[in-house]
Amino acid sequence: MMNSDEIANLNAELQHADSQQILARCSELFGKKVAFASSLGFEDQLITHFIATQQLPITIFTLDTGRLFPESYDLIDRTNARYKLSIKLFFPEHKAVEEMVNTKGINLFYESIENRKLCCGIRKTAPLRRALQGLDAWITGLRREQSVTRQHMQIIEWDSVNQLVKVNPLINWTADEVENYVKRENIPYNKLHDQGFPSIGCQPCTQAIKAGDDIRAGRWWWELPEQKECGLHKS
Ligand code: ADX
Ligand code: SF4
Repeated sequence: MMNSDEIANLNAELQHADSQQILARCSELFGKKVAFASSLGFEDQLITHFIATQQLPITIFTLDTGRLFPESYDLIDRTNARYKLSIKLFFPEHKAVEEMVNTKGINLFYESIENRKLCCGIRKTAPLRRALQGLDAWITGLRREQSVTRQHMQIIEWDSVNQLVKVNPLINWTADEVENYVKRENIPYNKLHDQGFPSIGCQPCTQAIKAGDDIRAGRWWWELPEQKECGLHKS
């Protein structure tokens, strides 16, 4: 566990570090007690590339909600093959999913924000809690520019909900910088990114956007921007 002074010192130390240095330092500091949560987006694929090419002993995991796009499952396989990895999958608790869909319907999330949060809670947040058990830190692909809810993020933060350190090595990257790097280095990426999907989550809750739209406009498109967090990133 790190206190607020230690977090501030680490942020100061990493102020001018690049993403690869941030990852290497975290691996050194937290050893086997740090893992990376990959949603398989452009940002996540870049972090996976940095972890794999530096051969850092950081576990990479994905929360398989059961409602991901086929293209995302395909990417898991391609990434594992390319980097000789085994991305660890965490599934939701089957009883909770059965009770939810059998009482509220398979596509309950369109009906109310309450239903949407219930589904994200069961399919994402609860498995995340399980994935983080026993860890001292987790790594995410969040960027400041992504959303109104993400503008005050730091490289190193205390995640008070999950009670561990959260590391955001890409906070200062722009969307274009990430995409250009991934394509230039031939890093495997989700084919949907080339079909109008800059931000990809679950299939029923993600749609393609039009030119000029906000990059997260296709996520939970029926909700207001300040509501569009699934609960993984409250702190
Ligand atoms: S979300 O909260 O709106 O779903 P977003 O898709 O922007 O999040 O992803 C932000 C970061 O949250 C990702 O870079 C990743 O670290 C984590 N994340 C989101 N979804 C998943 C998932 N299904 N599995 C693992 N990590 C995830
Ligand atoms: Fe459920 Fe949609 Fe949240 Fe996925 S994004 S967990 S389908 S509400």
